[in-house]
Amino acid sequence: MNLPQLPLGVRVMDEDHYVLEQMFAQAAQVADSGLSAHLDAILAEIAAHFAREEVEMQRVGVPILPCHRIQHATLLVEAEKIRANFSNAEPQARRRLIAFDLAQLVANHVAAPDRVSSDFFDEKIDYSTPDRRSA
Ligand SMILES: [Fe+2]
Repeated sequence: MNLPQLPLGVRVMDEDHYVLEQMFAQAAQVADSGLSAHLDAILAEIAAHFAREEVEMQRVGVPILPCHRIQHATLLVEAEKIRANFSNAEPQARRRLIAFDLAQLVANHVAAPDRVSSDFFDEKIDYSTPDRRSA
């Protein structure tokens, strides 16, 4: 299992966060003409990830889920602001909006609401054990 920059020990978080980080990094290699579609794909992936994460948090009974849902909705609003700035930006600025601005929004979310919520998962993955890491 590939790990994101900040592993939290919750599969739906760590797997999806890794995928998103890869998508942010890919912005450097995407052709100018493909940047808009790449942003659309990332925003769709973020929304799908939030839905998966909320289902899992509901399943284990994370008590701060209502607050976490608000954090997700707020991030999606902020992401739409980035999309609004995107259309008038030059290609290099578009890449920065994806690889830095949007990536930072998600990283901040992972480091605060996700980290706190992950503590409510009783059985967290222990990555220090090699056979659990590849599970
Ligand atoms: Fe989250």
